[in-house]
Amino acid sequence: MATFGQIIFYSMVVIIIFLTATIVLILALAFTASNQGSTVMSSKTKPVVNLGEDELLSCYLHVETFEDKFRDMSVTWEKAGLTGLVYLYENAAPVLRDQASQFRGRTQLFPEDVTKGNGSLLLRSVRRSDEGTYTCSIRSAEGNGRVSIHLRTAAFSVPKFSFSNDTLVAKASRWFPKPSVTWLNQSGSILNGTTTYTESNAGLFSLVSRLQDVHIQDTYSCRIENQLVVVTSEETIDGSGVSGKTYITFNAASALLASVYLNVTTLILCIYYMT
Ligand SMILES: *[C@@H]1O[C@H](CO)[C@@H](O)[C@H](O)[C@H]1NC(C)=O
Ligand SMILES: *[C@@H]1O[C@H](CO)[C@@H](O)[C@H](O)[C@H]1NC(C)=O
Ligand SMILES: *[C@@H]1O[C@H](CO)[C@@H](O)[C@H](O)[C@H]1NC(C)=O
Ligand SMILES: *[C@@H]1O[C@H](CO)[C@@H](O)[C@H](O)[C@H]1NC(C)=O
Ligand SMILES: *[C@@H]1O[C@H](CO)[C@@H](O)[C@H](O)[C@H]1NC(C)=O
Repeated sequence: MATFGQIIFYSMVVIIIFLTATIVLILALAFTASNQGSTVMSSKTKPVVNLGEDELLSCYLHVETFEDKFRDMSVTWEKAGLTGLVYLYENAAPVLRDQASQFRGRTQLFPEDVTKGNGSLLLRSVRRSDEGTYTCSIRSAEGNGRVSIHLRTAAFSVPKFSFSNDTLVAKASRWFPKPSVTWLNQSGSILNGTTTYTESNAGLFSLVSRLQDVHIQDTYSCRIENQLVVVTSEETIDGSGVSGKTYITFNAASALLASVYLNVTTLILCIYYMT
């Protein structure tokens, strides 16, 4: 039997839990409301960039009313954990005295776009050390806000195919992280290919993968993938050689995060309706 004291105690515990849930809910709603007020957006918040290529980090100010010019625009690009700035643009000019040395000479904004509320940053020749979280903050007479962009780097390349001696050969250079190779036939059965890898001094992998006993006129699919990128080629062997097409897709980690976030939101809403 529970004593009167225990009943009081457990009631208090229940009340405290409900109050905590309510506070969390209020904070969550307040946070959402302030986000709705923020007008800075990015068309790509989780870019995967091929090492050595240029990337445009998208960041722009969106307002409900139509504006063709924004006044007093200032754009600040920062990177988490970095001493110094990635880029600062204010009073219609770049201000680069506090720019971190790793970004010197590799970054630019587009002044004509800035006047239209577009603070996108071009980052040239992306390196592995550029990975991380960037924050773009825009201030202007028409509105303020910030957006975070999580940049990841990879190396990937489209394979070249050749056919000889009943063997289909795929060769790809420049991959990182180390990928796996899967061969499939037209009905989707996994076939037994053999892949050899070579690692360069720079830590990039090149590979040669062979599929034996292939048949002329048949189509085979070759999938090269790592955690970030999937490159799928569908190749048909004909009398004169191999022809086909290749698709590149990027890992769906961001979609997974979004779905976890939605599930958390659903949970909070359930608590809300229960109270
Ligand atoms: C922002 O400017 C860049 C560089 O000119 C351009 O590629 C991009 O499409 C612009 N974005 C928007 C939303 O206007
Ligand atoms: C062709 O394949 C056969 C059997 O797998 C092998 O003995 C022969 O050396 C191969 N020829 C070439 C040119 O690779
Ligand atoms: C694919 O491979 C499986 C297993 O080896 C086989 O049963 C199937 O007929 C093959 N499909 C084609 C289109 O060759
Ligand atoms: C795949 O190839 C390896 C080596 O050539 C062989 O040992 C293995 O049995 C093969 N597996 C299948 C499913 O054919
Ligand atoms: C979210 O919840 C749905 C059903 O409520 C479930 O099917 C889905 O797998 C969940 N997603 C994650 C990432 O947990």
